[in-house]
Amino acid sequence: MRKILFAASEGNPFIKTGGLADVVGALPKYLDCKKFDVRVILPKYLCIPEEARQKLSHVTEFYADMPRGKEYIGIDKVKVDGITYYFIDNEHYFAGDSPYHEIFQDVNKFAFYSRAVLASLPKIKFSPDIIHCHDWQAALIPVFLKEFYGQDSFYQKTKTVLTIHNQKFQGRWRIDDIENCRDLSKDCRYKAMEAYHETNFLKAGVIYADKVTTVSETYAQEIQTPAGGEGLDGVMREASGKLVGIVNGIDVEEYDPMTDTALAASFGVRRMSGKKKDKKALQRELGLGQDSSAMLIGIVSRLTEQKGFDLVNRIMEEMMNTMNVQVAVLGTGEDRFQKSFQYFAGKYAGRVSATIGYSEERAHKIYGGADAFLMPSQFEPCGLSQLISMRYGTVPIVRETGGLNDTVEAYNEIWQTGTGFSFANYDAQEMLMIIRYAYDVFMNHPKEWRMMMKRCMNADHSWQNSAGKYEKMYLDLLG
Ligand code: ADP
Ligand code: GLC
Repeated sequence: MRKILFAASEGNPFIKTGGLADVVGALPKYLDCKKFDVRVILPKYLCIPEEARQKLSHVTEFYADMPRGKEYIGIDKVKVDGITYYFIDNEHYFAGDSPYHEIFQDVNKFAFYSRAVLASLPKIKFSPDIIHCHDWQAALIPVFLKEFYGQDSFYQKTKTVLTIHNQKFQGRWRIDDIENCRDLSKDCRYKAMEAYHETNFLKAGVIYADKVTTVSETYAQEIQTPAGGEGLDGVMREASGKLVGIVNGIDVEEYDPMTDTALAASFGVRRMSGKKKDKKALQRELGLGQDSSAMLIGIVSRLTEQKGFDLVNRIMEEMMNTMNVQVAVLGTGEDRFQKSFQYFAGKYAGRVSATIGYSEERAHKIYGGADAFLMPSQFEPCGLSQLISMRYGTVPIVRETGGLNDTVEAYNEIWQTGTGFSFANYDAQEMLMIIRYAYDVFMNHPKEWRMMMKRCMNADHSWQNSAGKYEKMYLDLLG
């Protein structure tokens, strides 16, 4: 039995701000439990909902040597769906109403987390064959492992994998100002960890990890180019021998239109009538006109530049004035996008709805009730929202980048193939053209649209395939 530890800053069902939590919450369940003992270790944030915190049981506590002196580390645990989750407790670092704060605090917090993970494993006697680290927040684990535990017999066989979910976020800050990195050698801090005169957690992780993965094949290529590398393309090209792209899946039990309790009516490929009821219920709940013929476009997203909303802003007026569409937005993020969607919701009351906030329930209702799902990302390492929407027969309209390129097959009207609509360039008019095309198929070729909905629902984006690729990668690494 191989022992794998997932280390990440968020994970379903405890704490989620985006797709990382979905991956950390789902992938362990899909790895073969006869071959792999997979556990997860997360920070015990104070903002984890009380209901979930209540279920944790205390394992142990101790004080570890850290640059600030002796620091408290508590370890709690809970088992969910057969997977053991550990939590690192320290209220000095993990307080606040969200997992992330200002970057200068976060770099120190996650350096602490990474050290605490390594200090904790001997206490709980879990000696992993592989520590699978996710994103910059856990990227220093390979660094601390090699720098501080190189001679430690407990970690003698431990290998590390770093998965990059988003190369834009690197964990960068002034080298000498990160207290919890202070005792690393100067050589390490000023060479491997340094990029552009700052400490760069992601770069350090890429250099120290035994294997680096990212969440789609296209993104694995893009991050090696100046356009997609976010300044680290040279590092990624250098690491290309140990870099692989493995596309994400979704938890098909969590997202299942046949059993989803958030929906007004259930539906499936063979029984589609429920979807019409879900559209109607969604329109009612959001104050949209009860117009079954309007094409209802859903958006569930972090409202950030990455997701392409400046394109949407540019074409909103023209789209609303030339097509019978409705738009249902759910998201939080940058003020400028929150305000613009609120503005359009005011101006086009009854046709545009903007929910500024985070709501699992409403997200499910939008995935279930919308006709199309708009995701015109500037870049997208993988993207889960398009996979979820396909599972609910909600046809995605995407830009051909990263994982969107790998998971949405463009509609071909001659062969009647495809699972969505896509455009290539980051250009508002090009996007509008493709929305018009989708609108034309929706309005004038309902039979073709329906067939496409079914193809979306039949497409297999479960974790099964990709979990197999992770298993093979682990076994290759362990030799
Ligand atoms: P990213 O991780 O870049 O935000 P993904 O598409 O990989 O993008 O994953 C986003 C996940 O977060 C999906 O599960 C999506 O449904 C969810 N999500 C995003 N914004 C919200 C929101 N405001 N309310 C509920 N769920 C949201
Ligand atoms: C990141 C990416 C997103 C990806 C998710 C899970 O948040 O932005 O594209 O799907 O991680 O891997």
